[in-house]
Amino acid sequence: MEIDIIKQQFKDKFGDHGTRVYAAPGRVNLIGEHTDYNGSFVFPGAIDKGIVAVIRANGTNKVHTWSVDLQDYAQFTMTETDLPAASWARYIFGVCREIIKRGGSPSGFDTAFAGDVPLGAGMSSSAALESTYAYALNDMFSLGFDKMELARIGQSTEHNYVGVKCGIMDQFISLFGKKGHLIRLDTRSMEYQYFPFHPQGYRLVLLDTVVKHELASSAYNKRRESCENAARTVRENGHPHVEFLRDVTQEMLTEMKGLMPEEDFMRALYVVQETERVLTVSDALERDDYETVGRMMYLTHEGMSRLYEVSCEELDFLNHIAKECGVTGSRVMGGGFGGCTINLVKEPLYDGFLAQAKDQFARKFGHQPKVYDVVISDGARRIS
Ligand code: GLA
Repeated sequence: MEIDIIKQQFKDKFGDHGTRVYAAPGRVNLIGEHTDYNGSFVFPGAIDKGIVAVIRANGTNKVHTWSVDLQDYAQFTMTETDLPAASWARYIFGVCREIIKRGGSPSGFDTAFAGDVPLGAGMSSSAALESTYAYALNDMFSLGFDKMELARIGQSTEHNYVGVKCGIMDQFISLFGKKGHLIRLDTRSMEYQYFPFHPQGYRLVLLDTVVKHELASSAYNKRRESCENAARTVRENGHPHVEFLRDVTQEMLTEMKGLMPEEDFMRALYVVQETERVLTVSDALERDDYETVGRMMYLTHEGMSRLYEVSCEELDFLNHIAKECGVTGSRVMGGGFGGCTINLVKEPLYDGFLAQAKDQFARKFGHQPKVYDVVISDGARRIS
């Protein structure tokens, strides 16, 4: 990303002395999708795409923000409680509000930012934005929050100012990411473990359908509600220890089938199976057994498509081509309803797979998917 362009535009808007530069990344997730609001496991890694912000405290209680990508300006005061009109500014506003709620007292600042995480591709551009500012304000004003709390500040921003009742995965990995490592996070205990990820002989590549369906966030919130309903039904029917679907086995769920709407049952079944798959993948990674990892990825896709119903025609099509081309693993990544597939491909098959995917997809949908090679990178940081 062109930091010089951001700096230049900051200078044009606000003058150029005393600035700092911070960055935070988007993410991929190897496996463990829609598990993070069910107390279960996720397996994400930070990527080499993210948000970069130039920022300077201005000694007032006003925040002046400039989006380089949108060429749009927004401002608010630290004491204001009404949402800014510009939707992109709500992320920065939300981070400030959530910091203040937790007893932090940042002063006003001027900032310009830009990003290279494709929007709507399921790579967490919004978490990158939240994490950039949570990290920057914490550092700049010595607020003393730890990184876990900064992740929660980002997550609460989504809940309270954006309206998405997301889990903690995206903000967590944007802050904790480490070059060359995936992290297995237990979203109940918040314990996490770094896994070096250098799959010899394989490549990890994202294919972006460039499709983003309307109402993705309300559909996401609906999935979460179904999971909570299902967990409650199990809890209230003889299993008082059940806090999340994490605590539910397939047998328990099958016993309860008649007691909940079919839709909630399907959602819950997917989550229970996905939890098992993440654990299988952790074991497989210890042995460098990427064939098992790949098999689990295909099963996740099937579950996300048929049981959780967050896939779409374009994603299913890419998944099908991957299978036909002998790709080791492929599945829809992130929240779903459009966005990317993540593919684990043996090196000799890589070029052929991409050529097939581009050609067949373009013939069916009239445009090519975008291709992003995954480079697992560091989390939020100060650049200068
Ligand atoms: C979005 C949310 C995450 C997670 C994923 C699905 O990215 O922000 O919390 O639930 O969807 O795994």
